[in-house]
Amino acid sequence: MAYVTEQNLTDIVLERWQQISDPRLRQVMQAAIKHLHGFVREIEPTGAEWFAVIDWLTRTGKMCTDKRQEFILASDVLGVSMLVDAINHRLPTGATPTTVEGPFHVADAPERASGENMTAGAPGEPLFITGTVRDLGGKPLAGAVLDVWQTDGEGLYEAQRDVAGPWMRGLYRTGPDGTYAIRTVAPIGYTIPMDGTVGELMNRTKISHMRPAHVHFQVTAPGYASVVTHLFKNGDPYIETDVVYGVKKELIVDFERKQPGRAPTGETVTVPHNVVRYDFVLKQAEAAKLRGAA
Ligand code: BEZ
Ligand code: FE
Repeated sequence: MAYVTEQNLTDIVLERWQQISDPRLRQVMQAAIKHLHGFVREIEPTGAEWFAVIDWLTRTGKMCTDKRQEFILASDVLGVSMLVDAINHRLPTGATPTTVEGPFHVADAPERASGENMTAGAPGEPLFITGTVRDLGGKPLAGAVLDVWQTDGEGLYEAQRDVAGPWMRGLYRTGPDGTYAIRTVAPIGYTIPMDGTVGELMNRTKISHMRPAHVHFQVTAPGYASVVTHLFKNGDPYIETDVVYGVKKELIVDFERKQPGRAPTGETVTVPHNVVRYDFVLKQAEAAKLRGAA
């Protein structure tokens, strides 16, 4: 056997880490070693620099709780979350694209009637979002569920407010004609949490830590692949610099500002309000996935 030198070390490690019977784990570990050694060979860290990397990772791990996941945030700002999302959602043209879920989704949102206000008195200018859920052939999908969550008009999610009940979220269903109607308030752009190790790193860069104003959706319908996505406000100052790389052009929508009057839900609004129209398009679920769900 050859003893190690700087030149042969990577090959020796790769050879030893072949001893894994699970082929997928073997593939993952071979690539991890190859790229990690390549990274170290490229940057040639001093001992102190490598310790700073280990220390940053250690402190990142220690920040993680059931309410906060700093590693996911790191994955988000490095574009890795969006890359994993893209690899797993190679959708046909015309289907609504996906984007990252983010950390603020809360399960078991309350059921809302069509057009119901989901804001519970939250600050912000009223926003009405209406449209349809359809398949790729244009067929309206009745009974599709839209799980909707977002910040209020001050850029805060439920988890960031001291509120007891559901705040800025709800489950809406499409009617027999595939239409839905949501009443909410217009979200604004907001900063990702900057008080942790990711913020510490971001503060050593000139990269914006802002997300453009958006509303989150998870749209599901039986027999169709569910879509986790956002709708982004056209013209938002952060639309081209989203810190988590979530913006796709098909997801940018006009927030049409209207004077007081009749809203798309039929109700009369006494203040200026915003109107968005969006048709979600779902592709059929793959047969294997459907069998798995049965
Ligand atoms: C969000 O949109 O809620 C979000 C996504 C990634 C990181 C932080 C926030
Ligand atoms: Fe968000």
